[in-house]
Amino acid sequence: MGSRYNLAIVTGGSSGIGNSIIEGLFKVEPDTSVFNLSRRIPATFSYGSKLRHLECDLANREQRSKVFDSLERELRQAPADGQILLVNNAGFGLYGPLDANPPAEHLELLEVNICALVELTTRLLPLIKQRGGSIMNIASTSAFQPTPFLATYGASKAFVLNWTLALNEELRGSRANAITVCPGPTRTEFFLRAGFSKRVIPAGYSHQPEQVAALALQALEHGKPYTVTGFLNKAASLFSSLLPLTLRTRVAGRVISRFRQNPDQK
Ligand SMILES: NC(=O)c1ccc[n+]([C@@H]2O[C@H](COP(=O)([O-])OP(=O)(O)OC[C@H]3O[C@@H](n4cnc5c(N)ncnc54)[C@H](OP(=O)(O)O)[C@@H]3O)[C@@H](O)[C@H]2O)c1
Repeated sequence: MGSRYNLAIVTGGSSGIGNSIIEGLFKVEPDTSVFNLSRRIPATFSYGSKLRHLECDLANREQRSKVFDSLERELRQAPADGQILLVNNAGFGLYGPLDANPPAEHLELLEVNICALVELTTRLLPLIKQRGGSIMNIASTSAFQPTPFLATYGASKAFVLNWTLALNEELRGSRANAITVCPGPTRTEFFLRAGFSKRVIPAGYSHQPEQVAALALQALEHGKPYTVTGFLNKAASLFSSLLPLTLRTRVAGRVISRFRQNPDQK
């Protein structure tokens, strides 16, 4: 990736994949100014004035609207000599039968995984179209089939996949594009936060967040509309998409129901 973006906005850069995307960006685009939006400060906050942390609970509509206002003001005042990259990465899952988690937690998930992503993208789109740039939305391989015991999460990621593909098509011929990234199991805080036990990720069938970030940035550079990270994830998604929808759902339910729940969670 050359020096293409002079501004980047990343949600959920305080840990995991988002943090690795920020680090990956600084490696290839050291002059980019990055804004991170999350509740915690990014784990590696070592890029001086090039990395700005805007504390924001993306589930809180009032708070995020204020933060988005000030972000938009800053972006409009920034020198217009490069493109803008928006990475909607923040997200979390909820594991278990639907009614094992209270309704408020399902709604919180939808606020972070969907509403904040739609709001931030729609707000920044006119500026991104004007200056040129890209929107990278982090979905999941969960987007390719209904996911019993992760029902709200999987459906939220199916939304992200379909919405971003549609947006990219709308942007054809403009100075902007959108890419959906679908990672498979990745060793981050995601699983514990979702309520899985520690040992849920199969050895040999998972990525480090740095690998996912590198593959995502590579796919962005190649102008792909979407990417599934890693050969095994690509093969599993392809296989799943060949099955009839009800069978696909049953297989996913069998696999996901075998995972162990975190005994401390409930
Ligand atoms: N790990 C996997 O296996 C996997 C697979 C496929 C897709 N994904 C997706 O990848 C993305 C990143 O997840 P990860 O695996 O890197 O997990 P992670 O380490 O738990 O990171 C999640 C990030 O989202 C932010 N976030 C969560 N709730 C937030 C809120 N209310 N307000 C603001 N920020 C919030 C967190 O920041 P704060 O806690 O500081 O607010 C954190 O930076 C998610 O969209 C996830 O669905 C993960």
